[in-house]
Amino acid sequence: MSRPVTIEALAALKRERTPIAMLTAYDATLARAVDAAGVDCILVGDSLGNVVQGRTTTVPVTVDDMAYHTACVRRGVERALVVADLPYLSYAGVDAAVESARRVMQAGAAMVKLEGGAPVLDAVRRLTEHGTPVCGHLGLTPQSVHQLSGYKVQGREAEARDRLRREARALEDAGASLLVLECVPSSLAAEIASSLSIPVIGIGAGVEVDGQVLVLHDALGLGGERVPRFVRDFMADSGTIPAALSAYVEAVRSRSFPGPAESYGD
Ligand code: KIV
Repeated sequence: MSRPVTIEALAALKRERTPIAMLTAYDATLARAVDAAGVDCILVGDSLGNVVQGRTTTVPVTVDDMAYHTACVRRGVERALVVADLPYLSYAGVDAAVESARRVMQAGAAMVKLEGGAPVLDAVRRLTEHGTPVCGHLGLTPQSVHQLSGYKVQGREAEARDRLRREARALEDAGASLLVLECVPSSLAAEIASSLSIPVIGIGAGVEVDGQVLVLHDALGLGGERVPRFVRDFMADSGTIPAALSAYVEAVRSRSFPGPAESYGD
């Protein structure tokens, strides 16, 4: 069995400029397949609201849902670092964040992910001071879909770009170990990744970041007809799920994913 991936190992991948491969998973069997393909991090995403529960947003997902799926994934994983999302409004306040993080960490996560910038900094500080690793999530933050008036590219105007730069820096300073940037112009994502010392994982953020993440169902061609442009169907040229997962890891490592057509300009 190869050694479990740690935060230090992720930081070393960034220093060596080896792209980090991350995928979501929600159950033990597919988590085992994702782990076997050599993915570094498995995200138990609250996207389970969409792809497992059939909802149109992640807003209805609960801490109970996250703890259940985190425990399922944990049983399938030997190597990858397991990150669990804290769901909608379960970290709106430091005490709430601590309690929600306790639930998913005790279910088997090694890191929690939460969305947003300035409003979550106190929670990030408290969690990390008490030994709970945190992944931030900026750009398109799906839990705020109603506030954002839809799933749209973020950071196109000068003021929004500045805010993203500031919030990324503030999350690192507050103790975050990892940052997901979703649906932002590639040039901005590249600039943020090179200015931070923590790894920046992109989804719809271009290739010049420290790694990539996709929702597993999207990577397996199950995203339906209207998938975002950053999705690539790795099943299309692979006969089996294990082959598709290996193709994803190889495409991330070689920086052949995402290509320009799968990224956003300014
Ligand atoms: O919930 C999720 O799957 C996510 C990824 C899209 C980054 O947050």
